[in-house]
Amino acid sequence: MSTAIVTGATGILGRQIVKELSQDTQTWKKIYALSRSKKDECPQNVEHTHLDLTGSAEDMAKEISKIDAEYLFFAAYLEKGDAEELDRVNGEMLENFLKALEINKKASSLKRIVLVCGLKQYGVHLGVPKAPMEESDKWLPEPPKNFYYRQQRSLHAFCEKNGVEWTVTYPNDVLGVAKGNFMNFATTVALYAAIQTELGDELPFPGTEGVYKRFDMFTTSKLHAEFVHWAALEPRAANQAFNVVNGDIHSWQTLWPRIAQYFGLHVASDEFSRPAPDHVEMQLNERAPLDFFAKEIGLEGRVQPSKLQNRIDLNKWSQKPEVQDAWKKLAERHSLDKDAIDKATWEFAGFIFGRDYDIIASISKARAMGWTGYEDSWESFKGIFGDLEKEKVIPPQKK
Ligand SMILES: NC(=O)c1ccc[n+]([C@@H]2O[C@H](COP(=O)([O-])OP(=O)(O)OC[C@H]3O[C@@H](n4cnc5c(N)ncnc54)[C@H](OP(=O)(O)O)[C@@H]3O)[C@@H](O)[C@H]2O)c1
Repeated sequence: MSTAIVTGATGILGRQIVKELSQDTQTWKKIYALSRSKKDECPQNVEHTHLDLTGSAEDMAKEISKIDAEYLFFAAYLEKGDAEELDRVNGEMLENFLKALEINKKASSLKRIVLVCGLKQYGVHLGVPKAPMEESDKWLPEPPKNFYYRQQRSLHAFCEKNGVEWTVTYPNDVLGVAKGNFMNFATTVALYAAIQTELGDELPFPGTEGVYKRFDMFTTSKLHAEFVHWAALEPRAANQAFNVVNGDIHSWQTLWPRIAQYFGLHVASDEFSRPAPDHVEMQLNERAPLDFFAKEIGLEGRVQPSKLQNRIDLNKWSQKPEVQDAWKKLAERHSLDKDAIDKATWEFAGFIFGRDYDIIASISKARAMGWTGYEDSWESFKGIFGDLEKEKVIPPQKK
């Protein structure tokens, strides 16, 4: 029987890790769930502790002095506006927490640390990446700072020093539910579609025709939790990083009409021939990630910087008086959370809809080691929409 610490225990990924481990009572005797807030009732083998990871290592050491665990799942994350600040804050949160364990002389009790990172490892936020993205791909030069690089370097150094094993995961656009936390793509999509039901019978696609025809991959938080559970205990996964995606490949041309149908809407047959007065366009990094591979793969001089393009600027759209009004009516009629529209991450959704390039991550490495997990992304969307109906975030839909 083992013990584990999960940081970021209320987040979209961390919450599911706590749930996954707590259900396996044969393996996990005790799970220490750490975060500043507490949102869920805990099962018997889970103990929640309030902890602010932005505190000093010395202060944290006092607060966690009674906690001793063999496994650490680090899934805490603090959003910051720019890359430097993101790097500093998230780097220090991990480093100070690890230092707190050393101060308490608990580092040597650890067997393995699982650090949750993401496909930004490959610069998916900077422009077109190499396809498929593989764990053996070289890291991109900094700047711009990549906080995953700092976290992984710190993790490697700590593990080397203390004789601890590590595993790192790279999920992509996560599908899941986190209470009172709308840094969640599926929730934002659900709110967008629910509001459109008040405005007409169509579901306009926020991105461009280019994106509509491209490919994307998702990571369902439940699948990710199953993966980290497997990887933490799998000897071959020691000191390795893994892409973690559902295993299916999606394209908006297939998903969007299904989402429309779920909400009783349809996609206009001339969707992309219509004027787009709210069109927005932004150039991403001056060098796209693929350009750093160009010379060795025969594409030198051929890779242009990527653009983020949307036919609808979702941030502006959500502030339009008719949209706010439609939401107010919907929320009142169905007793929904009135603030949901302001908590939704419109910018994050705009980023996913606006990337004019394919996001394809290989999962061959995990499969070669015996991982067989798979999730149907459309089934995940449907499941989350159903959960959001039950939690009264969106109105019930006719199925
Ligand atoms: N969401 C995605 O689509 C996605 C996609 C790919 C990769 N990732 C990566 O996955 C990792 C986890 O992100 P997530 O999306 O699960 O984050 P999230 O839903 O925003 O959750 C963040 C967690 O961190 C905790 N936290 C934040 N600040 C803290 C602090 N000062 N002290 C203690 N706990 C703190 C939060 O709890 P409290 O606020 O209660 O403290 C929450 O439990 C990140 O590295 C992220 O980049 C996410």
